[in-house]
Amino acid sequence: MVTNPYPSDGTDIARILDDEQTRLRLDRSGMFRLVEAFGAQCREAVELSRTYDPGVRRGEIRSVVITGLGGSAIGGDMLRAVASPYCDVPIVVNRDYGLPAFVGPQTLVLAVSYSGNTEETLAAYTVARQRRARMVCISSGGELSRRAQADHVPAIGVPGGQPPRASTGYLFFPMIRVLEEAGVLERSLQSDVAETLDLVDELSQELKPQVGFQENAAKTLAAEIFGRVPVIYGTADYAGVAALRWKTQINENAKCHAFAGTFPEVNHNEILAWEECRRQARRWVVVFLRDAEEEQATPRMARRVAVTRRLIGRKATQTEVRSRGSSLMARLFSLIYLGDFASCYLALLNGVDPTVIRGIDRLKAELAKLK
Ligand code: F6R
Repeated sequence: MVTNPYPSDGTDIARILDDEQTRLRLDRSGMFRLVEAFGAQCREAVELSRTYDPGVRRGEIRSVVITGLGGSAIGGDMLRAVASPYCDVPIVVNRDYGLPAFVGPQTLVLAVSYSGNTEETLAAYTVARQRRARMVCISSGGELSRRAQADHVPAIGVPGGQPPRASTGYLFFPMIRVLEEAGVLERSLQSDVAETLDLVDELSQELKPQVGFQENAAKTLAAEIFGRVPVIYGTADYAGVAALRWKTQINENAKCHAFAGTFPEVNHNEILAWEECRRQARRWVVVFLRDAEEEQATPRMARRVAVTRRLIGRKATQTEVRSRGSSLMARLFSLIYLGDFASCYLALLNGVDPTVIRGIDRLKAELAKLK
């Protein structure tokens, strides 16, 4: 059980988040080190992608499906968000044992599992093979890479030994290469990649543990979320992907509940839940993930946000962050990376090791007993 061991007093929170000893005591498995080194991971992934032969034949591809779960699936959502505006064919993310009926010989299926052992992804791999889809597998090893080798399916091996959710760079950038090689993109995304790499490095310097509470946006966000139920709203399609990532990172790293939604969809249902939720929402915090250019680029979206914020009023605490960067990819990564750090700081406030995922491990072990 996660308890709140600290008084909700701003000064104490700042002291805890700035205290190296607290971090080292709780972060026994080194999640902070991985998050801090994310820029290096992304650069390594881009370099590795250049050396891979994704093995995908050009030819008529009518759809792209990324199949995976959890930390391996989110890279698919990210790919869909940044590549769809330039992609001739639909990109669909699948998180299940099966695959949609449209998957066939003209579908490019990317089976992604960092461990290579996730049963849903292995089942979807089998279905994709039966449907004679074109395939590329991405994993750090495990059963998926063994099967790919035996079946002569193109496979991209990424460095292993870390949590899947801390390996997004390794899983995301090879997929960009695959799409480029498959010839489904109207333009190369390499300039977006270059901008993203620089921005991630810049953000790492601003958000790392050595930067004090007052200057560190991820620490102050963790303090705002601490002891509350976060509802994360992305106010653009790509920001909705970031909102989902924030939710799952808060779930897995900080071991607490979070909910995510995307504008404009939430304006057609969830907005009503704010009308009568005064008692329910007393300890909720709404985090709006907004685009830096929102007011100029999408004024109707900005108006939606303003109306929604007024409606929520004082029923829940509200805060917002703005994306940075110019390409869609850089803006997406800027929001995601802030959330990755914030979820780790929240883990410290919750008194838990961000890496440990006992619940997932236990569930997978139980399922492995069923044959
Ligand atoms: C753990 C994590 C999980 C896994 C999921 C699927 O860090 O993020 O959400 O990603 O259980 O496992 P893999 O990624 O190995 O297929």
